[in-house]
Amino acid sequence: MTQTIQIIHEGKTFELPVIEGVFGEKAVDISQLRATTGLITYDPGFVSTGSCQSQITYLDGEKGILLYRGIPIEQLAEKSTFIETAYLLIYGHLPTPSEYETFSYHVKHHSMVHESIKNFYDGFPNNSHPMAVCSAVVGALATFYQDQMNQPDDREIEITIHRLIAKFPTIAAYSYKKSIGQPLPYPNNALNYTENFMNMMFSNPCEKYEVDPMVAKVLDVLLILHADHEQNCSTSTVRLVGSSKCNLYSSVSAGIYALWGPLHGGANQAVIEMLQAIQDDGGQIKKYVNKAKDPKDPFRLMGFGHRVYKNFDPRSKIIKKLAHQVFEKLGVQEPLLELALELEEIALKDDYFLSKKLYPNVDFYSGLIYKALNIPVNMFPVMFAIGRLPGWIAHWVELQGDEDFKIGRPRQIYRGPAKNDYVPMEKRK
Ligand code: SDX
Repeated sequence: MTQTIQIIHEGKTFELPVIEGVFGEKAVDISQLRATTGLITYDPGFVSTGSCQSQITYLDGEKGILLYRGIPIEQLAEKSTFIETAYLLIYGHLPTPSEYETFSYHVKHHSMVHESIKNFYDGFPNNSHPMAVCSAVVGALATFYQDQMNQPDDREIEITIHRLIAKFPTIAAYSYKKSIGQPLPYPNNALNYTENFMNMMFSNPCEKYEVDPMVAKVLDVLLILHADHEQNCSTSTVRLVGSSKCNLYSSVSAGIYALWGPLHGGANQAVIEMLQAIQDDGGQIKKYVNKAKDPKDPFRLMGFGHRVYKNFDPRSKIIKKLAHQVFEKLGVQEPLLELALELEEIALKDDYFLSKKLYPNVDFYSGLIYKALNIPVNMFPVMFAIGRLPGWIAHWVELQGDEDFKIGRPRQIYRGPAKNDYVPMEKRK
C-alpha cells in the first residue's frame, strides 16, 4: 500500500506518493506536482530536497553514521585500502581477489599521462592554485580520448574510470612540482597508490627518496575517509553535468571546481589558514569564537558545521585519532594541533555551537595531518579531490543507469520586471 500525503490547494485536494528508504527515511515524490497542481517547490540549497535514489552511500546526520555500500566507514578505515574502497563504491561490492588484482593492474598501468599534457603546465603561472590546474588538466583529458566522448559503451566507461583514478595523482603531483620549478617525475608502478603519489610529490633526480610506509598508510586512510559522501555539493555538480550526457572527464572537472570552495572541500585549507591567523593574533581563541557567533561578522569557524551531520562527523573522530598517532610517530610538535584541540573544546561547550549543532567536520583535523606530512597547504583541497574521485565516478555511473534518469533542470520563482521595453542609447540618461 503506497503511503501518500495530501495537499489542499485552491479548494482541491491532491494526493502525492511517499517513498521510503532502507532506513525508513521518507520523501514526498513531487515529480508530478507541477503537472497535477501547477505548483513548484522552493528550497534554496536543496536543504529538504532529494535529487535521486542512490545505493552508494548512506549518512545518518543525527547519529553520525556513514556507510559505503552498507559498510561502516570505521571498518573500511581500519581494514580496507583506498583502491579496494574505490572498487566497492563504483561496482557495488568488495572485489574478489581476481577482481582486485585486475582493477589494481589497470589503475597502475594507466598512471602516466600523455607527454603532451606536460606542456599544459608551462602555460599556468607558477603561483596557480593547484585545484584550478587539476580541474583544467582533468578536463583536458577529454581532448585526448575523443573517440569515447559521445555515448561511450561500458568498456569505454571502464577504461575512463581506470584512467581517471590512475592519472589524477600524477596530474596533482605535477601541479605541485611545476609550482616549485622541479621536473615532472614519472609514476613508479612498483609502488602502491599513495606511495606513488608521495614519490611523485617529494622525490627529485638528485637524491634517493624513500617513502615512509607509515605516511603512505595514513594517506591511504585519509583517502578512504574522503571517498564519498552522498549528494554533497561537488558530487551533485558531477551528477548535474553528467545528466546532460556530458563525458566523465568533464563532469569530474566540474566537480573539482565545486569542491574547491571554502564552504566545501576548500575548508581544509581554510582551517589551517584560520588556525594560523588565530595563532598570529596571540592565540586569542575566545575572540574568534565570538566573531564566529556574531551574526554581523562574516567570519565562520572553518571546519565546523555540516548540512547533514548534526552530531560528530564520524570521519572527524577517526582523523583526530590519526592526527595524534601521526604526530607521535613523526615526533612532530604542531602548535596548531594544540590550538585546534583547545578551539574544539571551547566551541563544544558554547551554547551557540551546541544549539546550532555545529561540530568539527572532516576538514577540521585533516589539514593538520597533511601539514605534518609536508604537503603544501594549497594542495589540501587536492588531497580531498583525489579521495573523492571514486565517489564522483560511482555517482556519475549510477546516474547513467538510473531508471528515473532525466537531465537536471530546476525551476524558479521569477522576481524580475513584469514588463520592460528597449530604450535606444540616445534616450538613456
Ligand atoms: C564538507 O555536504 C557534505 O557532505 C560536505 C562534506 C563532504 O564530505 O562532501 O562533508 C565536506 O564540505 C564539510 C564542510 C566544510 N565546510 C566548512 O567547514 C565551512 C564552515 N562551515 C559552514 O560554512 C557551514 O557549516 C556549512 C557550509 C558546512 C553548512 O552550511 P548549511 O548547512 O547551509 O548551514 P548554515 O550555513 O545555514 O548554518 C546554520 C547556522 C547559521 O546560523 P543562523 O543563520 O541559523 O543564525 O549555523 C551557523 C550559520 O551562521 N553556522 C556557523 C558555522 N556553520 C554554520 N557559525 C559559525 N561557524 C560555522 N562554521
